[in-house]
Amino acid sequence: MRFDIISAVPNLLHSPFEHSIIKRAQERELIEIQIIDLREFGIGKHKQIDDYQFGGGAGMVMMPEPLDNAISFLKNQRAYDEVIYMTPDGLTFDQAMANRLSLKGNIMIICGHYKGIDERIRLEHVTLEISIGDFVLSGGELAAALVVDAISRIIPGVLNNESSALLDSFQDNLLAPPVYTRPADYKGMLVPDVLLSGHEAKIDDWRYEMSIKRTQERRPDLLDK
Ligand code: ADE
Repeated sequence: MRFDIISAVPNLLHSPFEHSIIKRAQERELIEIQIIDLREFGIGKHKQIDDYQFGGGAGMVMMPEPLDNAISFLKNQRAYDEVIYMTPDGLTFDQAMANRLSLKGNIMIICGHYKGIDERIRLEHVTLEISIGDFVLSGGELAAALVVDAISRIIPGVLNNESSALLDSFQDNLLAPPVYTRPADYKGMLVPDVLLSGHEAKIDDWRYEMSIKRTQERRPDLLDK
């Protein structure tokens, strides 16, 4: 699976993809991530990418031409299953959306900045608008990194033990059960006996019960889904 991310601040996107699981997934060619610097498509000597908004008001708007040039440059190289714009007024991202997107081949992601991108780019190119929650970030980059991470980790082979993604919180609208590692006695707090029993079926039952209990306590809304 391939992600092409258009950004006015590409440096914000490097670190999230250069470590741990996402780094390994790229090395193993399970995913490919390309970051495109919008400034390279900027206009004139100053490589301008933003301008004042028509109608007045504070905040700059990302101009249509540099975005159109960057998007067209990418579209000339390959077909895209989705052109995603990260924006607080998009559809709220969740596990179901991550699952669905993990089945795609090529995804383009546009990161907004300032007041956002010119509406005509959204109308012409964007096929899906995603918000990561009801709050406003200073740009779409952190949101894009989060979406790429959530999608990538469920691609078969990315996690060592595929079943561990299936047991994540939210995969079945349940929160994950508590987990423990050594020591079995930490400051007098003991690991539940069942986890030390070696009895797989009992352990599965216990984890399922704990998932339900935790979901009832913390996110009862999930149980209605
Ligand atoms: N850009 C700024 N805020 C955002 C949000 N909440 N989700 C996605 N992109 C954003």
